[in-house]
Amino acid sequence: MEGLRVIEHPVLARALTELRSTDTSRAAFRAAMAEASEMLAYEALRDLPVHEVEVQTPLEATTGARPERITVIAVLRAGLGMVDAFLRLMPDAAVGHLGMRRNEETLQPEDYYESLPESLASTTVFVVDPMLATGGSSSAALRRLRAAGARDLRLVCLVAAPEGVAAVREQDPHVPIIAAALDRGLDERGYIRPGLGDAGDRLFGTE
Ligand code: PRP
Ligand code: URA
Repeated sequence: MEGLRVIEHPVLARALTELRSTDTSRAAFRAAMAEASEMLAYEALRDLPVHEVEVQTPLEATTGARPERITVIAVLRAGLGMVDAFLRLMPDAAVGHLGMRRNEETLQPEDYYESLPESLASTTVFVVDPMLATGGSSSAALRRLRAAGARDLRLVCLVAAPEGVAAVREQDPHVPIIAAALDRGLDERGYIRPGLGDAGDRLFGTE
């Protein structure tokens, strides 16, 4: 789909299979989410601008590169499971939080918390949420971040539904979306099929 980059890699595929399986324990689910998120972060950071820097090796002076600072925005709760992966690769990233709870009757997102760093307008902003289902939560997050001054936004998720990708791109036609999988579609309850169930519940043990 236009605007969506699905990362294909055998190690990522193994982590995603762990995430999908009902045989996976809570601890293994957390570990697989961390592993998958790190690979997605690595790919999502691929075109980050870098500054050239001088570096002295033991033998001579040469030039090296430092990536620009970034901002990571976790869509609560499940997005929390992806933040540390970004911080392992980009340890000085600023981190913001947007609390969004999908109303399971209406499937509309309800926001309940917001904490946004000042770096929003001046850095590349990676919005992390493992599930892109109807796209309501991600669209609301992107809308809020644009209103707060963000200009360069990327959405990183584990599992996307075609409906969610289309909804996000309709609202925000230029936002790149990076995912580990594009699944078949949504069921009548708005769950991604085959999906992995409720990511937040499996991550935090609230199922
Ligand atoms: C889940 C998920 C996304 C949203 C996706 O969160 O983490 O934020 O649903 O669905 P959508 O694309 O249809 O909006 P949920 O609202 O269940 O909250 P949680 O992370 O606290 O479990
Ligand atoms: N939220 C989830 O956690 N999973 C889905 O399949 C849809 C929304």
